[in-house]
Amino acid sequence: MTKDTVLAILLERDGYVSGEKISRELGVSRAAVNGAIRALEKDGCHIDSVTGLGYRLLSAPDRITLGGVIRFLGASRGESIRILKSAVSTNDEIRAAAKEGAAVGSVVIAESQSGGRGRLGRHFLSPEGGIYLSYLLRPATAPADTAPLTAYAAVAVARAIEEVCGVRPGIKWVNDLILDGKKIAGILTELSVEAESGLVQSVTVGIGVNARSCREYFSPEIAAMASSLEELTGCCPDRNRLVAAIIREMDHLGEIFPGEREDYLAFYRAASVNLGKEVAVIRGGQTKTGVALAVDEQFALVIRYGDGSEEAVSGGEVSVRGLYGYV
Ligand code: BTN
Repeated sequence: MTKDTVLAILLERDGYVSGEKISRELGVSRAAVNGAIRALEKDGCHIDSVTGLGYRLLSAPDRITLGGVIRFLGASRGESIRILKSAVSTNDEIRAAAKEGAAVGSVVIAESQSGGRGRLGRHFLSPEGGIYLSYLLRPATAPADTAPLTAYAAVAVARAIEEVCGVRPGIKWVNDLILDGKKIAGILTELSVEAESGLVQSVTVGIGVNARSCREYFSPEIAAMASSLEELTGCCPDRNRLVAAIIREMDHLGEIFPGEREDYLAFYRAASVNLGKEVAVIRGGQTKTGVALAVDEQFALVIRYGDGSEEAVSGGEVSVRGLYGYV
């Protein structure tokens, strides 16, 4: 932890900061500060040290680090955040931690995933440069009442992206964040339910954001549908800052869910790229087309089909004409 808090201090300051000041601020020995500086250098940080002046951070590798994240959240929040170089799936990591009794608000982040999962059993491509973050919730609700969580999380991530990148993504029902017609982020919510009581034991909200350009990893089909914040806004966001903004939004969501519904609904409806559009509902190998009329109080998508019938859709895949190659 000392290494991370020292990095947070160095990132905070423009100029030199003395070892004495750091040791006082953190309540650790000078030797511990020296050890932390050496560890940071080993991690790839370039740190100038001048006798009488102290340390100055010249550069840090473009990585998500605990020091980089807690700089925006405070050191105590860092105690339940784990950052991995790679994982099969951060959702698996959180689910395992939940079984071991991890606290609400525990977070696992990976720089890459080898088995990233998306909705409906799809693979979620997770090369380095993205943000792959899973967040643990334990809402005291029946499984059915957790249905709006994915939509709440989509609002949370959209708000974080707007705060850090200055652009508000659209939301394609139910879990895709869209910029300039391309997917830049997705959310996968997974539940653990106790068989005997039927109550929710834990909920893992998995968030994947294409931050840095990842075009070289995309097949032509994926490149037609997906892009990254870097490519679409012209610069890669500070991923540590974006991670911190997402965690802050998720912490808020964890406190208020299922409350503040009107607020989340209003944001979701305003950001929806479905409403008023021709859509195709794909379920169990069947496709039905219609027009998306509304997002109801449960965040279900209300569709009027060609035969005049209406349905509030709460599962399956909904394609939007003109988006992702649906023409
Ligand atoms: C989707 O687009 O259908 C949802 C994608 C969710 C991806 C995130 S990345 C972090 C977490 N770990 C996973 O395996 N999936 C989610």
